Amino acid sequence: MSTPTQGRLHVSFRPSDRAHQALETLPGPVTCAADPSGQTRAELLSDVRGAAALVCLLTDRVDAELLDAAGPSLRIVANMAVGHDNIDVAACAARGITVTNTPGVLDEATADLAFALLLATSRRVVEADAFVRSGEPWSWRPDLFVGLDVSSGATLGIVGLGRIGLAMARRARAFDMRIVATPSRSAGEEAARLGIETLPLPDLLVTSDVVSLHCPLTPETRHLIGAEELRQMGPGSVLVNTARGPIVDEAALAAALADGTIGAAGLDVFEDEPAVHPDLLALPNVVLLPHIGSAGRATRDRMAMLAIDNARAVLAGEPAPTPVHP
Ligand code: GLV
Repeated sequence: MSTPTQGRLHVSFRPSDRAHQALETLPGPVTCAADPSGQTRAELLSDVRGAAALVCLLTDRVDAELLDAAGPSLRIVANMAVGHDNIDVAACAARGITVTNTPGVLDEATADLAFALLLATSRRVVEADAFVRSGEPWSWRPDLFVGLDVSSGATLGIVGLGRIGLAMARRARAFDMRIVATPSRSAGEEAARLGIETLPLPDLLVTSDVVSLHCPLTPETRHLIGAEELRQMGPGSVLVNTARGPIVDEAALAAALADGTIGAAGLDVFEDEPAVHPDLLALPNVVLLPHIGSAGRATRDRMAMLAIDNARAVLAGEPAPTPVHP
């Protein structure tokens, strides 16, 4: 069997030292952007021209325009993210281009951050920190920053019980929470072992003290949580989103947080990232993070290495380890 000719691999960001070492072992030519945060659209469209492989970030939009710019040499687009809503997978498939993502290597880091948001919002950690820093006089009092008791029977509702949802459930189990989740085809034995009850979304929203989103962004999940769903969650409840911003109607969320329809929210992702709805910025009962769910040092290395390995495999004529199926 003849080995396909190794073409050029383009990386749309400056990789970590460890990932860079992996790139140096590849047989073919490699080009890398200079900035760890990625390239402008114009730079990417220019640098991808004639590449056989592209390792890219979730901030890179891989659409017909980019595929046209790359030309017929492009064989693989390897996203350094588990989410792949930035990629037109159907357009890639139509041109015979493999798309890959990085599942499995970031589950624990992302669930750690989701649980950090759960605790920070439930127990008002960020609000209380700002209060102490404000220099306002205070002494211990029974009603100071009272929040939700997490480990005394609070219910966590998981929307999207995949790998990250299950990792979140393991943390909730350690905190003695009751766990409910929307129906999932993949959860199986572990969900049963963790005692997770399955509920349709409307019942989950009514039942849960904290709702944590772990589903992918698809046409079906865009604005899954809007004004009506927030109303179903009810006063005192908490929403955590470490999945994708457009799953939540951000304007409806800002209104629900402002008028007490729900109690608090912890957001790592935004509808129009990196823009944040201006009303959210003014609210004390929302914790806002800059999409750092998978930002553990080793996790980020594992993501980059897996993306590079996917590109290496396809360039060598082997099956990609973690393909995305159209
Ligand atoms: C991060 O958001 C990812 O999809 O990996």
